[in-house]
Amino acid sequence: MDIAFLLNGETQRIADQPPTRTLLDWLRETRGLTGTKEGCNEGDCGACTVMVTDETGCRALNACILMLPQLDGKAVRTVEGLTGPEGQPHPVQEAMVAHHGSQCGFCTPGFVMSMATAHANGQRDHDDRLTGNLCRCTGYAPIIRAARAIEETPVPAWLDDSGALPPRGITDSDAAFLPRSADELADWYLAHPGATLIAGATDIGLWVTKQLRDLPEPAFIAGIDDLRGVSVSDTEIRIGAMTTLAELQPAIAPHHPGFAEMIRRFGSAQVRAAATVGGNIANGSPIGDSPPALIALGATLHLRRGSERRSLPLEDFFLDYGKQDRRPGEFVEAVTIPRQEDRLRAYKISKRFDQDISALCGCISIRLDAGRVSEARIAFGGMAGTPKRAAGAEAALLGKDWSEAAVRAAMTALDGDFTPLSDMRASARYRAQAARNLLMRYFLEDQGQPVNVLEVGQ
Ligand SMILES: Cc1cc2nc3c(=O)[nH]c(=O)nc-3n(C[C@H](O)[C@H](O)[C@H](O)COP(=O)(O)OP(=O)(O)OC[C@H]3O[C@@H](n4cnc5c(N)ncnc54)[C@H](O)[C@@H]3O)c2cc1C
Ligand code: FES
Ligand code: FES
Repeated sequence: MDIAFLLNGETQRIADQPPTRTLLDWLRETRGLTGTKEGCNEGDCGACTVMVTDETGCRALNACILMLPQLDGKAVRTVEGLTGPEGQPHPVQEAMVAHHGSQCGFCTPGFVMSMATAHANGQRDHDDRLTGNLCRCTGYAPIIRAARAIEETPVPAWLDDSGALPPRGITDSDAAFLPRSADELADWYLAHPGATLIAGATDIGLWVTKQLRDLPEPAFIAGIDDLRGVSVSDTEIRIGAMTTLAELQPAIAPHHPGFAEMIRRFGSAQVRAAATVGGNIANGSPIGDSPPALIALGATLHLRRGSERRSLPLEDFFLDYGKQDRRPGEFVEAVTIPRQEDRLRAYKISKRFDQDISALCGCISIRLDAGRVSEARIAFGGMAGTPKRAAGAEAALLGKDWSEAAVRAAMTALDGDFTPLSDMRASARYRAQAARNLLMRYFLEDQGQPVNVLEVGQ
């Protein structure tokens, strides 16, 4: 492995580190840059937030689940690199002082890095930008006041690393593989079917930091440009596997706003900026948020093995808990959604509104023809060992008048579709009841009634 990136304006060449070394550990242990803190070491608290710039712009990322090869050709700013060349504080640092936004030195560096990144991007949705930064003492109001206070302040010129990005380093070595194209990955993966594909590492990072696992033959694939991006034609929306949730959100919003709204509640800004759609599907998790929405939209998954490609309905990819229809050497290339009138509602039920894993996630799309149900696609996460369609409830609706009576019959049928489990997120009874209620919620919402907790009045 031989990679290069900018660290606070200075080029770093790294050849002597294990490929799964996290940026956080490297900064603190090798560079003595201890301003970047370790809180949870699993992407939840934001104490380790850094600013990462590449040709697409800058984003806030969690250094604790970011492995060094993911930085190849990019620029990193830590809290030590936020001040100007003469030691001038960044406007966000001044605002945090002026508005009493800081009590401890632990969470503040992470907050400041998230805020400086949002400021550089002109993002003013401060509540959303800061859901991945936990503060247990100051309270968020002074912090939000500080963020608002600098909205009109110019971005300091010294922070712009975009013109100085180093060329990417050597991509194939004994230690790690960093392919640049899908073709390169396809050939290599066929010859190395036991390899570990690492995309955004928001799942895999925890295998390293929490489970202390060794990853055989790591291949870092998030930098493959031809696997990235959303394209819209007359017939379909194609989402490349390496598209991040942060990239998907604005691209899908004009077509399926309910999906975009759910993505707002996917992890945090730092997680969405790294997590990919391909990773969210390939991990086979029963509680991943994008599969139920994609299944309800009738999505097709596109897989590739060497030069061989095949496509299947996304729901058929999930065979059983922890078991997907993916052969050795095969990877997810893209997912496509047929163009359609938007009838999707995506309901994420979790204990906290922000930055929480779903207890269950219900995504529903019901199409009508002259007042009758002509198509019903209902998919749930968190109700079985895989993301799964509610075949009984769908059948109970199909061909029926779109009425409360039909929905009640579908709610009863739903009991036969799933046998949910009890775990720390919810009891089986809660899940079954909440899933039923989501069907009624969809119906009421379709009738124009307020159903969102943020809308329902007395
Ligand atoms: C703090 C935190 C909050 C989170 N919140 C949510 C949430 O709200 N909702 C949610 O759904 N998830 C959440 N997650 C989980 C995670 O962010 C998602 O599952 C994410 O989409 C994984 O994508 P990734 O690119 O990071 O995958 P990685 O971690 O890189 O990989 C995940 C798995 O997919 C495989 N893989 C990746 N890409 C491919 C490919 N193209 N082909 C074949 N295999 C591939 C990898 O080998 C690995 O097995 C959260 C995680 C964290 C740390
Ligand atoms: S240490 Fe908590 S998110 Fe990284
Ligand atoms: S200022 Fe550190 S926890 Fe609030």
